[in-house]
Amino acid sequence: MAEESRLTRKDYEEIQTDLESKTKYRPKIGIICGSGLGGLADRLTDAETFPYEKIPKFPVSTVPGHAGQLVFGLLGGKEVVCMKGRFHFYEGYPAWKLTIPIRVMHLMGVKTVIVTSAAGGVNQQYNVGDFMVIKDHINMVGLGGNHPLVGPNDDSFGERFVPMSKVYDKGLRELVKGTAKELKLDELIREGVYCMVSGPTYETPAEVRYLEKIGVDAVGMSTCPEVTVARHCGMRVFGMSLITNKCVSVYDTDEGPSHQEVLRIGAEAATKMEKLIETCVGKMDEPST
Ligand code: HPA
Repeated sequence: MAEESRLTRKDYEEIQTDLESKTKYRPKIGIICGSGLGGLADRLTDAETFPYEKIPKFPVSTVPGHAGQLVFGLLGGKEVVCMKGRFHFYEGYPAWKLTIPIRVMHLMGVKTVIVTSAAGGVNQQYNVGDFMVIKDHINMVGLGGNHPLVGPNDDSFGERFVPMSKVYDKGLRELVKGTAKELKLDELIREGVYCMVSGPTYETPAEVRYLEKIGVDAVGMSTCPEVTVARHCGMRVFGMSLITNKCVSVYDTDEGPSHQEVLRIGAEAATKMEKLIETCVGKMDEPST
């Protein structure tokens, strides 16, 4: 299959102009809702909703449980834009295409991106329903060459070689952990390393053991491309995974994740996670650069 041509700066600006002509909001905070976590977008008040298929040049998501809308509105008293439904590598998109919304958010003035996801617990101490604050990641898909920034670099967005030693903002991680304490959710909070795999299969026991050995705490099929492009354009990043299942590292057991389980656990724990994020957004400072 021939590679689809990439969007140019002009294309991104076209999407920006279209959205700016339709919404009164100019948010500084962008949120990506992970699998089963779309309820966060429903908490926005005075919302303005744009289905992806109505936005020019926007990809459309194909997974059940992912609605596919960009929602602008107020959360915790702040203007935000939420992606209700994101794009996944396993749907067949090239890595750069997954990150179109991040560059659009950047052009619209978003300075902080909050990325949520469902993930499997590789760390055996983790329980279903825990929230993992992402401290660092391993982009297994990216390391293998399916990296969103492979190809010509657009210097107007960011530099060619992006340092990745400080991706997940420490101040935001502290804010979320402190707020979780206030909300009496601190028992659910973990902090660890997220690994992106391509999916759509869940991991074999040998793969889970391998991930454990290389220092992974939670594994999922998203997050790294968006976060990488957000850092490329200088945005501040916070990431959090809901642990929807324990990864199975033993043989001959009937236990194991299913998409239904991932969505069901998401639904049960979602309210708590949404409340936590809403409270944190309300407290966030808004960097101007
Ligand atoms: N593996 C990969 N992705 C996931 C999992 C998992 O166990 N659970 C939710 N997303």
